[in-house]
Amino acid sequence: MPPKLQSLALGKTYGTLDVLRGIDAAVADGEFISIVGPSGCGKTTFLRIVAGLETASSGSVQIDGQVITGPGTDRGFVFQTDSLLPWRTVFDNAMVGPEIAGRANDATKAKTRDLLKLVGLQGFENYFPRQLSGGMRQRVNLARALAVDPRILLMDEPFSALDAQTREIMQTELLRIWEQGRKTALFVTHQIDEAVYLSDRVFVFARRPGRIQEIVPIDLPRPRPLSIKRTPAFVALVDHIWGLIEEDVRSSVLNAET
Ligand SMILES: Nc1ncnc2c1ncn2[C@@H]1O[C@H](COP(=O)(O)OP(=O)(O)OP(=O)(O)O)[C@@H](O)[C@H]1O
Ligand SMILES: [Mg+2]
Repeated sequence: MPPKLQSLALGKTYGTLDVLRGIDAAVADGEFISIVGPSGCGKTTFLRIVAGLETASSGSVQIDGQVITGPGTDRGFVFQTDSLLPWRTVFDNAMVGPEIAGRANDATKAKTRDLLKLVGLQGFENYFPRQLSGGMRQRVNLARALAVDPRILLMDEPFSALDAQTREIMQTELLRIWEQGRKTALFVTHQIDEAVYLSDRVFVFARRPGRIQEIVPIDLPRPRPLSIKRTPAFVALVDHIWGLIEEDVRSSVLNAET
């Protein structure tokens, strides 16, 4: 099968800053990919180029063989920071995508209600963001990204603001939702065990310039219970990836300028 998503010698510069260079990768339809790497290695930039919010400086990213030229409803984006509109209810926030796409009708409204149920927010449709916990807000963000029924789901550290327990629950929830729709997923995280737990493959980025250092296949069976995190195979994968980025992370932490 041809790849769903393909990055071909992708490069990105901001002025003299060489942010991404020579990113070559193919992602199959329905694959779950995580991207890890030190701060400033270009993970968000890469995701924004795939989302069509940022343009490539050289090379290209293609979806189904077509070069990306802008945003589209084939891609849903969950940002790192909570991007809910405070004056809109949970339901109205989740409906933003269909509205922008000019598809706010009875069918999409019913689907959005189903999605809110799927992410565990049934009964909270008329709440405002300020009345929700951080975990609940991230669920709304996820429902909103899913509401346009994108084939590709782009997530930039979606769980970073959550406490450890909520985060683990969100990981299992995300896998449950993903297993139902088998969307192609790109998931950026700083937590290596999260990347291993969720993914079919992990792209390990290195910085200066941002590039793919190694692609690590995660051959763990699915469905994955949380207890898989304590198995030797899981721990070995986490150790391997940590070994790849340790030096990079150390130097990015020690050199305040990134
Ligand atoms: N709009 C922009 N203009 C200029 N430089 C930018 C812009 N966006 C990002 N950069 C630079 O590109 C580099 C990569 O940034 P990016 O946000 O992609 O990193 P990241 O891997 O997501 O980091 P983090 O893990 O901290 O989120 C950084 O040096 C950043 O300063
Ligand atoms: Mg980032």
